[in-house]
Amino acid sequence: MVKIGNIELSDFPLLLAPMEDVSDPPFRAVCKENGADLMYTEFVSSEGLIRDAAKSVQKLDIFEYERPVGIQLFGSDVETMGSCAEIASRVNPDLIDINYGCPVKNVACRGAGAALLQDIPKMVKMTESVIKSTHLPVTVKTRLGWDDNTKNIQDVAERLQDIGIKALSIHGRTRVQMYKGAADWSLIAKVKENPRITIPIFGNGDIDTPEKALEYKNTYGVDGIMIGRATIGNPWIFNEIKHYLKTGEKLPPPTMEQRVDVCRRHLEFSIRWKGPVAGVFEMRRHYTNYFKGLEHFKPYRMRLVEAPTFDELDSILKEISNDYSEMVC
Ligand SMILES: Cc1cc2nc3c(=O)[nH]c(=O)nc-3n(C[C@H](O)[C@H](O)[C@H](O)COP(=O)(O)O)c2cc1C
Repeated sequence: MVKIGNIELSDFPLLLAPMEDVSDPPFRAVCKENGADLMYTEFVSSEGLIRDAAKSVQKLDIFEYERPVGIQLFGSDVETMGSCAEIASRVNPDLIDINYGCPVKNVACRGAGAALLQDIPKMVKMTESVIKSTHLPVTVKTRLGWDDNTKNIQDVAERLQDIGIKALSIHGRTRVQMYKGAADWSLIAKVKENPRITIPIFGNGDIDTPEKALEYKNTYGVDGIMIGRATIGNPWIFNEIKHYLKTGEKLPPPTMEQRVDVCRRHLEFSIRWKGPVAGVFEMRRHYTNYFKGLEHFKPYRMRLVEAPTFDELDSILKEISNDYSEMVC
């Protein structure tokens, strides 16, 4: 069993990666129903949260059925990050995660996210400040380093473990790489192999099939895998991987009826969370993902993104289920 502080997970947990504009409560709900073992909120700006900005506060919405769930914070100011850990802890997540991996300009060029990989003493101070400000386990998500010349993940892992983080998720790319090239898990494996490291090490980057999950589990020896992009429009990947790890056999791909059912659940959760108007509106960006690769789908998509109510959407979804029922996904 893998433990993060006192949170007990399975032997080889599968984590839903934090993803801005993706891993909100409705999406997390369908990932949970399809096998995710630990999930994170989208990243929450500490600058926004400290000023009570609506967008940041809303990201603190978590629900009992999601547990265990972590709130992820990012920021550039040590004190503010501490204060925000305290604020986030009040909504009682299972853990607080710190983002030291975000490569995008708006974040990394303002001294937050992956920028901290260029200033390890500050990263250590920030992490201490967060740990001191919460009773919850604190975890970190980061990358291998800033660029090819500064792949300092070994040092980062030891120093952060020494001050008390309870797990580390590593995306096998540098900041400069952004999302280019293949993720390199060999340095993640080195962190895991370091005899000084006792906290769980989760590997992240490019896992998109059950076969790859098994291969990377065996090759790199990580304690679990965090999955991001491959879950989008495809949340059943968690159970597919679990089944494959357990039996060595692949589950059949979801039928069209199952795809439609998960999409409908997502819509229901969206409406439950945001109400009938905003819930329907926010769901619009997800239909393309759920029905990727379907021939002649455009007219259905147009109707899905225009339909104003659940009932209308439900009847279009039923039509899709019928019209594409023969299709193997
Ligand atoms: C749309 C999108 C949003 C993301 N937002 C976040 C975020 O809020 N916090 C974070 O730590 N990483 C974020 N990431 C990075 C992912 O968590 C993950 O590290 C990355 O996608 C690599 O994993 P994958 O190859 O399984 O997708 C985001 C990635 C994507 C594609």
